[in-house]
Formats: sequence, C-alpha cells, structure tokens
Amino acid sequence: MYKFFFQLVFKRMDPEQAHHLAFRWIRLAARTPVLRTFVAAALAPRHEELRTEALGLRMHGPFGLAAGFDKNAVAIDGMSMLGFDHIEIGTVTGEPQPGNPRKRLFRLVADRALINRMGFNNEGSAAVAERLAARTPVFRTTVGVNIGKTKVVPEAEAVGDYVKSTERLAAHADYLVVNVSSPNTPGLRNLQSTEALRPLLTAVREAADRTVTGRRVPLLVKIAPDLADEDVDAVADLAVELGLDGIIATNTTIARDGLGLRSDTSLVQETGGLSGAPLKERSLEVLGRLYARVGTRLTLVGVGGVENAEDAWQRILAGATLVQGYSAFIYEGPFYARAIHKGLAARLAASPYATLAEAVGAETRRITQ
Ligand SMILES: Cc1cc2nc3c(=O)[nH]c(=O)nc-3n(C[C@H](O)[C@H](O)[C@H](O)COP(=O)(O)O)c2cc1C
Repeated sequence: MYKFFFQLVFKRMDPEQAHHLAFRWIRLAARTPVLRTFVAAALAPRHEELRTEALGLRMHGPFGLAAGFDKNAVAIDGMSMLGFDHIEIGTVTGEPQPGNPRKRLFRLVADRALINRMGFNNEGSAAVAERLAARTPVFRTTVGVNIGKTKVVPEAEAVGDYVKSTERLAAHADYLVVNVSSPNTPGLRNLQSTEALRPLLTAVREAADRTVTGRRVPLLVKIAPDLADEDVDAVADLAVELGLDGIIATNTTIARDGLGLRSDTSLVQETGGLSGAPLKERSLEVLGRLYARVGTRLTLVGVGGVENAEDAWQRILAGATLVQGYSAFIYEGPFYARAIHKGLAARLAASPYATLAEAVGAETRRITQ
C-alpha cells in the first residue's frame, strides 16, 4: 500500500517537499490523542525480549531513527509513535544556518538510495535547546542529540562551536553524538584525524560534565564509511583511551565506484553523501572491524543501508547494540520500524541466543577467534 502511494505521490514530488509533507502528517497524527494512541498501538508494539540496555539507558528495543531526519527536534513523539525506539535529533550546529541551496536531496530509486548535500540546515543549538526544554513527552523514548560544526566557523575554532552546542544541549540529551563525518560541511571530516579528534572529544566531554552534574551524559562519535581501515582502528583506540561511550558507524559515503549503482549517471554524479542500500556492505564491514578492535568496551551503533530485519540482525551479530535507519524509511514507509522489531524478535527466538545482548558481536567473535 505504501509502495503504491510512494509511486503515485511521493516519487512525483521534489524529495525535500515530500519529506516536509510526510513530516507534517506525522506531527499532526502525534498531536491528535486518539489517533496517536491507535497508530502507536499498531506500529510500536513492544516485544519484551527485545528490551535493550545500552549506554546506561533502558530502551524498548534496539532500533532507532538515525540523525538528519528530525534535525530540529520537532517530531520526537511522531517518530516514536511509528516505532523507532530511540530518536537521534540533529545535526544541530552552534549557530542557526540555512544549509546548502536547493536542490540538495536526490532519490536514486533504482538503487534504493539517496544522495544529500543538505549541509546541516537547522535552527541552531539555542533554539533546539529551548524546544527540548519545553517538551512534554507523549511517549517515553530515548533522545540522542547529534552536534556538528557551524559552516562559517573556521576549522581552527571548531572546538568552541561544539562546546557551545554541548553547553546548551547536553542537559536535554539522553546521549550526545559528536558528528565529524558528514561530507557536506567543508573540512568537517578532517576532524576525524586523531590529532583533531582528541582535543575536540576531550573538550566536549568536559563541557558535558561541567553543564550536567546529576548524571554522566553518554558521549559517542559518528564516523564516515570512507575512512581507511587503519583510521577506523585509530578512532576506535582513541575512543577507548578517552573513555567515550560509543561509536556510530556509519554516516553517508562520498564513494560512487564499486557500489553497483544502476541509477542515471547524472543522478549518481550529484555531489553529496550517498545513503541506503549501496552503503550496506561497507557500513557492516566498518562495524565488524570496530567490534573486533574494541569488543564490549564501547557501545556500537550500526547504521547505513539497514533495510529490513535481516540487515538489522546482521548488524547485531557484527557487534551493534543499537541499530539505526533513515533512507529505507523513505522507501518502506510507516511500517519500517515495526517490521524490523518484529523480524528481530522472530530471529532471536530462532537463534541459539537467549537474549539480544548475547547475540551482539557473535558473528565477529566467531570469525576472529
Ligand atoms: C537527507 C539526509 C540527511 C542526513 N543528515 C544527517 C545529519 O544531519 N547528521 C548525521 O549525523 N547524519 C545525517 N545523515 C546520515 C544518516 O544519519 C545515516 O548515517 C546515513 O544516511 C546512513 O543510513 P541509511 O542508509 O539508513 O540512510 C543524513 C542522511 C540523509 C539521507
């Protein structure tokens, strides 16, 4: 039914307009008491066996919404109503900014992929902090806050920009993510080098501890799939050394070759980050590599091309405690998160593992032992 609707309506619309339209419906439904209860009952059923403890937080299940969909924290209840068990808002930057000029979002339907060069369009850390502070949650959910660098802030002053966002947002975050991996802010990914990352993560950690005193806000870093393997290892080692809580792998890719893309060359050549099905293999590979390196010392979050329950299960077996998705939601529609949790429950029941936690990293341990 959704696929028919997608072909008939969304596919004919500009992708960003379609996003805003769907977003409006989701927010409207979440504001309508009877409707939201009905939708949540249908789409966000709870599977006892999928209960997940990660980052010191209790969640209903392991699958959540990746950053970039709800940049300004306006649809947390709406996305929770659709069955995403954690919502990562952002990327939020220190200052508000419009992002890149449109068109900046492209659908590669034949590849079940997207290319975006949104460029962190968002209302900025002050406005988003205010919204989060004023929020009365309808559904209990985990809210991650993903922060990035304001475009006009020079690379040399990046730390100050992230610290500003941390001071404003950490109190409202169940967990905090330092995003250094989006391809659409010039120079951002240079911050993934350990020389740049060390002072950045140290300063963000200190700022979070200074601002939030009653609890320790978990801190994660989100990395690109385009890092060389040795650089993935270096980030993993640094994260362990600095006492970080986790790594999110991965963001979108700037690669195009070797992904077997079938869409028109004109589309494929659009500048920006590619997400969705073609990213699956490399994201899974980076995740497995991280788990082989850090084991249970960090919480790993698997994202990139997760289209269905089998993909999510493979991420868990590779080492992910939490799994996220974005692009496949555009193609699969409102039943996406529900199908993943349902399928995960079935896979767990059919597996030799008593709990989801036992399954985490099982395949990577098998290969590396
Ligand atoms: C339109 C769009 C905007 C995105 N914006 C952000 C962002 O602001 N911050 C971020 O960390 N990741 C962002 N991402 C990356 C996603 O969070 C995710 O890492 C990536 O898309 C891979 O997952 P997927 O294949 O399930 O989409 C964005 C992705 C898309 C498609």
